[in-house]
Amino acid sequence: MISSTPPKAPFVIAPSILSADFTRLGQEVTDVIQAGAQWIHFDVMDNHYVPNLSFGPMICEAIKPLAKNAAHEPIPIDVHLMVQPVDALASSFAKAGANLISFHPDASAHVHRTIQVIKSLGCQVGLAFNPAEPLSVLDWVIEELDLILIMSVNPGFGGQSFIPSAFKKIQEARQRIQASGKNIRLEVDGGIKPDNVRAIADAGADTFVAGSAIFGQANYSEVIQAFHTQLSA
Ligand code: DX5
Ligand code: ZN
Repeated sequence: MISSTPPKAPFVIAPSILSADFTRLGQEVTDVIQAGAQWIHFDVMDNHYVPNLSFGPMICEAIKPLAKNAAHEPIPIDVHLMVQPVDALASSFAKAGANLISFHPDASAHVHRTIQVIKSLGCQVGLAFNPAEPLSVLDWVIEELDLILIMSVNPGFGGQSFIPSAFKKIQEARQRIQASGKNIRLEVDGGIKPDNVRAIADAGADTFVAGSAIFGQANYSEVIQAFHTQLSA
């Protein structure tokens, strides 16, 4: 029987290398891809928009050649910019091999322009929303987006606890995506573990960032499998 229902977008696990061992970052990227990571989440912090400093485009460029699976298919580099201003660094990351670039709308004076800058560089574009940030800007730009990123912690640090009010925001974002009729991924970032991923998916998310939950474990395959087991339950 032919179904008229379009296939559900597969769930994506995007390990955040913010929690990786930086003394052996290349091997960590290779290992986590071998363990089943579908994207690599790359957290960029500027000690201005957020109170922490991480890594820049040179590190992105260095890991780019490693971002492929055993079949040599590319693994997308999912850059999450926690920086202000946005445009110049977004351009640098596009040149450094980013596939998706997300930024926080409150960090850009001209959100529509920043979206166009990222698209013009050949990258997919996402908007990221802090826990207390409303989604209302989506009224004006949702049709331009490839991804919406709901922060379930305050940005700046790995290893924080999931903030429950994110569930309501994920639900609202899913409703907005459905109303738009566009194929937009709904990513959630912060405090995601195998024991809460099912509830986050049930709220409407399809893409899950996990840093400490993966890199804090000895066996990356086991924890990524634990996520998928929960998601397929
Ligand atoms: C926070 C970052 C997150 C963070 C996730 O600012 O955007 O990607 O590293 O880490 P965990 O999964 O440990 O909460
Ligand atoms: Zn992130």
